[in-house]
Amino acid sequence: MVPSSDYKLRNYQPGDEFQINSLFNAAFGRNSVFTPRSLDFWVWRYLEMPGFDPKGVFILEKGGRIVSSVIETFRKAKLGGEVLNLGVIDDVSTQPELWGKGLASKLLEESIKYAEQKSLDGLTLYADPEGHAHKIYLKYGFVDAKTFHFYIKTLSQDEPLVGEEESERKHNGGVLKLLTKENLKEYAEKFNKAYTRMEAFYPLGIDVLNWRLFESEKAFPSQTWIFRSKQEIMGGGTLRIREIVAFGSNVKTALLEYMFTTKPKDTSTAKIILSKLLEEAKMKGCSMALCIISSNCDFESKFLESNGFSKVAEDIQMIKPLSKFDFSQSAKHCWYTPYEHMIG
Ligand SMILES: CC(C)(COP(=O)(O)OP(=O)(O)OC[C@H]1O[C@@H](n2cnc3c(N)ncnc32)[C@H](O)[C@@H]1OP(=O)(O)O)[C@@H](O)C(=O)NCCC(=O)NCCS
Repeated sequence: MVPSSDYKLRNYQPGDEFQINSLFNAAFGRNSVFTPRSLDFWVWRYLEMPGFDPKGVFILEKGGRIVSSVIETFRKAKLGGEVLNLGVIDDVSTQPELWGKGLASKLLEESIKYAEQKSLDGLTLYADPEGHAHKIYLKYGFVDAKTFHFYIKTLSQDEPLVGEEESERKHNGGVLKLLTKENLKEYAEKFNKAYTRMEAFYPLGIDVLNWRLFESEKAFPSQTWIFRSKQEIMGGGTLRIREIVAFGSNVKTALLEYMFTTKPKDTSTAKIILSKLLEEAKMKGCSMALCIISSNCDFESKFLESNGFSKVAEDIQMIKPLSKFDFSQSAKHCWYTPYEHMIG
C-alpha cells in the first residue's frame, strides 16, 4: 500500500526532536515491554552521537504532524574476518491510529535506497521475533542472523550480594575504580582488545566511547567501573539505570553493559566487576538487573546463570546484505551486543 499524497516525506530538521520522541513513546508504548524516552535521551542518542547524519532520519508528516519515522545510523562490524559498513535501522515507529497504511514500509524503502546510495554492505536491525514488525523486515529482504538473549536477575534488598566481594577484591590485590576521562584512552585500548575476540565488533573510537560513557549524564545516569591489578586494567563494566515499563509496571532496571575482562575467561575478575555493578544497582534502588548476550556466548551465559541470572526473552539481529558477504560461519560464534541499539 502506498501512502496518499496527504503525507509528506522528508528528513530530519532541527526542532523535530520533540515530535519524533513523542512518536517513539506513543508507538513503542503499545508493546508489552518498553523503555520510555525523555527528550534529553533522544538528543544524546542521535543529535550528539558522533557521525550523526540527519539524512538518515526518515519522516512522514501529515498536516504538519510527524506520524511515522525510521532512523538509520552507521557503524562498522567485522563479520567472518571482513570489515563491513552497515546501516543500522532503529526506532521504526508509526502513530498507532495510522498502523497498516503502508507508512513504515515507505520509510523502510527510503532507508534501503539511502543505504544503496551510500554503497553500504548491508543494513541491520534488532527485532522481537514474535512481533509483527519482524514480518515486515522479512518482506524487505532482512534475514535472521543472530539471536540475542535477555538475562535478568531480580535484586532483593535483603539478599546477600554475589560472593564476598570486599574480601575477594582484597584477595586479588586489585582495586575497583570509577572510570574517568583521564583514563579513557587506556580503557579504550583494553576494551577494544577484549571485544575484538567477539564477532560483529569493530573497535570503537575514543569519540564514540566518550559520547557513550560520559555525555549521557543528562539523559540517564551511568557509571563505568574498572578493575586494576598491579596497575593494569583487568576488566570493566558499565551500569546504566533505565525505567522499563513491563506489562504496565515500571521497573527501575540496572543495565549491565559492556562487561569485559582483558584475559579471556577470567571468571574471578568478571565476578568482582559483576558484584560491584550489582551492589551499586541495589544502592540506587534497582529491582532488576539486565544483561544481553548473543547465542553461542557459552562462557558468558554460564557465568550469568551461575550468578543467579535467568534467560527471559530473545531478540533477533536481522541483516539485509547489499553486497556479497556470508555471515553463516560467523553466526556460530559469540556476537558483540550494541546496547544502544537493543535497549534504546
Ligand atoms: C511496526 C510499525 C512501525 C509498523 O508501522 P505501519 O506504518 O503500520 O507499517 P505498514 O503499514 O507499512 O505495515 C507493514 C505490514 O505490517 C502489517 N501490520 C501493521 N500493523 C500491524 C499490526 N498491529 N498487527 C499485525 N500486522 C500489522 C501491515 O498489515 C503490513 O503488512 P503487509 O505489508 O503484508 O500488508 C508499527 O506497528 C509500530 O509503530 N509499532 C510499535 C513500534 C515497534 O514495535 N516498532 C518495530 C520495532 S522492531
